[in-house]
Amino acid sequence: MADNGGLEGVVVADIDTSYIDGSIGKLIYSGYTIEDLAENASFEEVIFLLFNTRPPERGEYEELRSRIAENAVIPADVIEMMRSLPRDTAAMAVLRTAVSMLSAYDADGENLSDKERAKAKAFRLTGQITTICAAWIRIAGGLEPIAPRRDLSVAENFLYMTSGADPDPTACAALNVYLVLLAEHGMNASTFASRVVTATGSDMHSAIVAGIAALKGPSHGGANSEAMKMFLEIGAVDNVVPWFEKHIKTGERRIMGIGHRVYKSNDPRAGILKRHSKALAESSGKRKWYDIAVKLADTARADDYFIKRNLYPNVDYYSAILLYTLDLEIDMFTPLFVMSRIAGWSAHVIGQMGGRLIRPKANYVGPQGLHWVPLDKR
Ligand SMILES: CC(C)(COP(=O)(O)OP(=O)(O)OC[C@H]1O[C@@H](n2cnc3c(N)ncnc32)[C@H](O)[C@@H]1OP(=O)(O)O)[C@@H](O)C(=O)NCCC(=O)NCCS
Repeated sequence: MADNGGLEGVVVADIDTSYIDGSIGKLIYSGYTIEDLAENASFEEVIFLLFNTRPPERGEYEELRSRIAENAVIPADVIEMMRSLPRDTAAMAVLRTAVSMLSAYDADGENLSDKERAKAKAFRLTGQITTICAAWIRIAGGLEPIAPRRDLSVAENFLYMTSGADPDPTACAALNVYLVLLAEHGMNASTFASRVVTATGSDMHSAIVAGIAALKGPSHGGANSEAMKMFLEIGAVDNVVPWFEKHIKTGERRIMGIGHRVYKSNDPRAGILKRHSKALAESSGKRKWYDIAVKLADTARADDYFIKRNLYPNVDYYSAILLYTLDLEIDMFTPLFVMSRIAGWSAHVIGQMGGRLIRPKANYVGPQGLHWVPLDKR
């Protein structure tokens, strides 16, 4: 049996995009703490930072922002393809298919040798993924998709394209923080998948499709949906303690959105998301889900089992509340993760370009020395 099937502790690249110290709950992007960025930076500034390891000047920021917005339109054929899908298709499957299809319409689709052109492609994909997410919400709801506006940020454009109305500033701020917080996270599974594809010399759309495919799994991008399903099942603040006694104290289930493989003190993103989901819950008048989440987290934090094992809410716990309070269906939670993580993936893809083929070994445990008997003699 291979003793490290999960590749834990194996270092596969030098990166300058993010650093995590799980023992003290620290996450930085290119030198800046996640708390600082969440408070002060827009998602577009973070994209620039991840690509250039420095903040943009005003002109650079404005150029990047308008480049993303101007390239956010998706071809009519992609919209038609989405319309042709069964309405109950998983949103991540729709997104995976649509991004793959986009490569056929990208004049630079097959290039993966020029880093500047790859950056331009990443900006196109950032805008287009935002539009695909909003368009699928409309199409799945039996509504006409709305075209992106050239004057809006990624967060504003997404909210505008889902409703057609000018987006609410509190909702935009909350979504911007969500996008900043999930943009990059070291050598996680989907980022690694994107890098493996890139290291074969393949193109950026293929690498991003690989990232989407890996993020789709419940062990990676799907935990916030599971957390929300759990809050819905609890249903009311008064049900939290009986639910906890019945399902958690008995060891029957885990609290989704609590615990982390890397963060063993706290996940710094969780506290920030908690503050923003509270502001959003208050401004929208929909506090119930936030109150359930806080009561459950407090109940767990007062319990010896959780104290002894250092189990704290992770990024998925309050992002579930934030996204649900933005009126997003649970099925859209992981696509929203993609809308943010496209930044980290594409920075890693560009970092990997020209690098060595990633090719680990497997430990053969099958039979040896057998002789093949032709089919008619078996
Ligand atoms: C994220 C997660 C897989 C990390 O797992 P890990 O680092 O491998 O830790 P383990 O699964 O070994 O758990 C360590 C201990 O804490 C317990 N534990 C971990 N997370 C728990 C949770 N959410 N609820 C209850 N108990 C939990 C385990 O039962 C185990 O107890 P034991 O020592 O008595 O066996 C785990 O915390 C989890 O399943 N969380 C819920 C799902 C989730 O939120 N995933 C998103 C992560 S970003």
